[in-house]
Amino acid sequence: MAGHVPVLLDEVLDSLAPAPGEHLLDLTLGRAGHSVEILQRTSPDGRLVGVDRDPVALQESAQRLPEERVLLIQGDFGHLPELREKIGHETWDLVLADLGVSSPQIDEGERGFSFRHDGPLDMRMDPTTGETAAESLARIDEGELARIIHEYGEDRHSRRIAAAIIRAQKISPLETTSGLAKAILDAVPRKADHHIHPATRTFQALRIEINREMTALQHLLDRCGNLLSPGGRLAILSYHSLEDRKVKQAFRDLIREGDHELVTPKPVRPGQEELLRNPRSRSVRMRVLRRLPADNRGGANR
Ligand SMILES: C[S@@+](CC[C@H](N)C(=O)[O-])C[C@H]1O[C@@H](n2cnc3c(N)ncnc32)[C@H](O)[C@@H]1O
Repeated sequence: MAGHVPVLLDEVLDSLAPAPGEHLLDLTLGRAGHSVEILQRTSPDGRLVGVDRDPVALQESAQRLPEERVLLIQGDFGHLPELREKIGHETWDLVLADLGVSSPQIDEGERGFSFRHDGPLDMRMDPTTGETAAESLARIDEGELARIIHEYGEDRHSRRIAAAIIRAQKISPLETTSGLAKAILDAVPRKADHHIHPATRTFQALRIEINREMTALQHLLDRCGNLLSPGGRLAILSYHSLEDRKVKQAFRDLIREGDHELVTPKPVRPGQEELLRNPRSRSVRMRVLRRLPADNRGGANR
């Protein structure tokens, strides 16, 4: 488990409040940091279905989980109907989605997620399918690239960075994380008083684009209303303001229909102690929704 720290662990446990016998669907299993703790609280017979796009994450988590109570599935939560066919379970007491990438994915240079580790420009969470970042940069036009950097990276230098990347790409195809970082640094030199590296936002933007993260989240949100059993809880941890806005809106719509309520009136943020211990938690916001018990619903169509 080197390098992995589950984010907002205490807050996840407090707000999901797992109880013995409850069943958990973890849609972003990662290294099972949250799931291991939740499983302890749902013992002796609460089951876990753990989903991840990343086959390596599933292999490593399998070693940490009690085999008899666990089913692990490789898949994309953006394809929920297909996943549900494989899972064969109707609804869940507890559902967790801890979005984005895991620390082990970022720290493994070969995966190509980070400019801090040289490696091939890949960035796919599921390395068995889809286009790599290098392939994407080889075909994308400057306007589209600037849009991605602006929207998903929220970088005010998006146009300048996009132009520099396309220029560098024409001289020689960008195939490594260090090559891409250098092209970005040529466009936006690093300032001594800036704590964030100029390549940070562009790398985040490309990762979101390559993995179709916003589309997957929207698919999940469109279908999450019927994932929960009566009384069941759903926690979503997001790391980008666009994601959090989508979650907030989807939860609001479900509550308006009368079947759900908020467990967390405001998004939950990490405390000072966690921020110091785990700086990667700094952008997280968690929202938790509860499906009302069957005898307690106010919707007109009940
Ligand atoms: C932040 S990590 C989860 C960490 C986990 N909660 C833990 O404590 O170990 C996010 C994980 O979700 C996976 N993931 C991201 N988007 C996904 C998607 N659409 N479908 C399935 N898994 C996804 C990533 O591969 C990564 O392993």
